[in-house]
Amino acid sequence: MSTVEVHLEDSTLVDELRKDVRDGLTADPKWLSPKYFYDALGSELFEEITVLPEYYPTRTERALLEDHALDIAEATESTMLIELGSGSSEKTKLLLDAGVKHGSLKTYVPQDVSISALEGAIEQISKEFPALEVNGIVSDFTDTLQNLPSGNARTIAFLGGTLGNLIPDERREFLKAIADALDPGEHLLLGVGLVIDPAVLVPAYDDAAGVTAKFNRNVLSVINSRLGGNFDPDAFEHVALWNAEDEWIEMRLRARAPQDVHIAELDLDVHFDAGEDLRTEISAKFRPETITAELAAAGFGVEHLWSDTESRFALILAGRVSES
Ligand code: SAH
Ligand code: AVI
Repeated sequence: MSTVEVHLEDSTLVDELRKDVRDGLTADPKWLSPKYFYDALGSELFEEITVLPEYYPTRTERALLEDHALDIAEATESTMLIELGSGSSEKTKLLLDAGVKHGSLKTYVPQDVSISALEGAIEQISKEFPALEVNGIVSDFTDTLQNLPSGNARTIAFLGGTLGNLIPDERREFLKAIADALDPGEHLLLGVGLVIDPAVLVPAYDDAAGVTAKFNRNVLSVINSRLGGNFDPDAFEHVALWNAEDEWIEMRLRARAPQDVHIAELDLDVHFDAGEDLRTEISAKFRPETITAELAAAGFGVEHLWSDTESRFALILAGRVSES
């Protein structure tokens, strides 16, 4: 059986977009939240990114899941897998397969802000895993964790390195909210990118085929179509840079020439100087000891940290500890 619950109506998402675009485009420096990348086209472009030769995170995490999915099923004995920001759920099939073979897993709950990605994933998974109950949730993972289904042996998965797209304050709050949503003994399965050589990192966010540039510029098309903006996406250069102090990649859109943009629904005029940047995403990378400390501060004990031979990505299984 499969269901989709909508906790975030499209009209509410557009209301949030309105507020965030006004706040972000009138700020100095200008910024936008990465959650607006993922309309139907943005979700497709992300899937294209995952198979680019330069974009190592997806294939590295997949290899870790291939090696450890059964260990995860055995360690957690989970009856329910809840996945935040599940997207296409492509890699998750490895976890579902192991959970079903192990005999414990009964329910999969994919959650995403992108209804198109979620519906596609649910259709596929229901076909491939007919014995599983699949209950999708459309919501924003930063404000609906208290509404997650109850259960007694749940694992929350948050894969792909998406944790790194939250700014540090949001990240702290978010990890705490996940811990609050779980009971002692339940688990978080977290995939994070590790700090590596910028010579490998930067091309992953600035690929030769220009797919990431398209993904980045797509956020301007989202503003045009949803809020009546008149951005010319091609008038902005895609920029990916490594911020060594904060240890994150920043994606920016840089005005190639002075620009005046009008956003009709907000009755807002926005000026860009030539060379001015709009920050569209951060993608923080982690060190094993710092992410372990962040998890401990939120109420998790790391039980396993698996990493590839080049230490590019980590898959972490953490247990919710009892409050003392
Ligand atoms: N987990 C998948 C997809 C990662 S892409 C993987 O590892 O490949 C990031 C996903 O998070 C997208 O599907 C996007 O729609 C979703 N997302 C981004 N911000 C979100 C938010 N605030 N709430 C819910 N989903 C979000
Ligand atoms: C979804 N998230 C983890 C991706 C990342 O690597 O930060 C989004 C992305 N941005 C550019 N390429 C991929």
